[in-house]
Amino acid sequence: MAREFTVAVAGATGAVGRQMLQCLEERRFPVRRLIPLASERSLGLTVPFRGKELPVEVLGPDSFQGVDLALFSAGGGASKDYAPHAAAAGAVVIDNSSAWRMDPDVPLVVPEVNPGDIADYQKKGIIANPNCSTIQMVVVLKPIHDAARIKRVVVSTYQAVSGTGQKAVEELSQQVRALFACQSIEKKVYHHRIAFNCFPHIDVFLENGYTREEMKMVLETKKIMGDESIEVTATTVRVPVFYGHSEAVNLETERKLTPEEARRILARAPGVKVVDNPAKNEYPMPLDAAGQDLTLVGRIREDFSIKNGLNLWVVADNIRKGAATNAVQIAEILIRDYL
Ligand code: A2P
Repeated sequence: MAREFTVAVAGATGAVGRQMLQCLEERRFPVRRLIPLASERSLGLTVPFRGKELPVEVLGPDSFQGVDLALFSAGGGASKDYAPHAAAAGAVVIDNSSAWRMDPDVPLVVPEVNPGDIADYQKKGIIANPNCSTIQMVVVLKPIHDAARIKRVVVSTYQAVSGTGQKAVEELSQQVRALFACQSIEKKVYHHRIAFNCFPHIDVFLENGYTREEMKMVLETKKIMGDESIEVTATTVRVPVFYGHSEAVNLETERKLTPEEARRILARAPGVKVVDNPAKNEYPMPLDAAGQDLTLVGRIREDFSIKNGLNLWVVADNIRKGAATNAVQIAEILIRDYL
């Protein structure tokens, strides 16, 4: 008989948590029992899974008896506090927060890039899911790095509000509706109005002048690619888009790669779809990336300002490939090769 697993989802009422349930269902993950967990605020709520409404339980240290896999997307604090309890109870944790990503004993995994690192899950019983903007970038960088060795990456992001969570999705909707109705807008999630605006401020500012989101892209890229020599500099920007992060990526490579070569390499790369036909106004956009799992890349062109430079435009669904799908893909490899 095929094996089945007891799966807990911490943060099951949130934007990513709900998508995790949907991905488990869509990809026919062999779930014996699903346990949705959230805070006390969600007591009495249910979440849909395989045609049923499952009652939400309160996340606590004792939530993980008999659990094989615990997918966490309930914020860094909850992950720090409860992932060790889940691991101690014998579950393998796949954590979508930033709490464990840079821990040397925790693998940071994008299945298309470094699936072999999953083997290290035994050190702490935790596998980290990278930052959403980093995931879609490294899916595209990896095949180019293998072909031409990337020396430096300059990236600017255009990130959807869903990356902040369900409340930010509601804030953008409310502001757009209020502005058209000449009513006052609410600002609870962001410091500034996000409707018809954008701001270069994602996560908190650090002493070095960068935001934490920008430094995640720098540090996580090196760790996932397994190459400390790749230099990355990032500017991360929140834009009034609901779903789908976009990135303008400038690369300097050791070996010259023509745009045609890059296009050929990327067309064969796992998890990537080349959408690059400017003559027909075809290039990746969040509206097309949302609701599917491929990372779209286009506007592939030479950077004439340096010897070996390329420019790319990379778009993916931040809640799916940037979070939930990537976590479920990790779980699939884990049960196939390790559990
Ligand atoms: P709740 O809705 O009960 O607060 P999002 O990223 O969309 O904001 O969702 C965050 C998810 O994480 C929600 O399911 C939320 O549950 C959950 N969550 C946040 N903080 C905690 C906590 N301290 N304990 C358990 N779940 C939490």
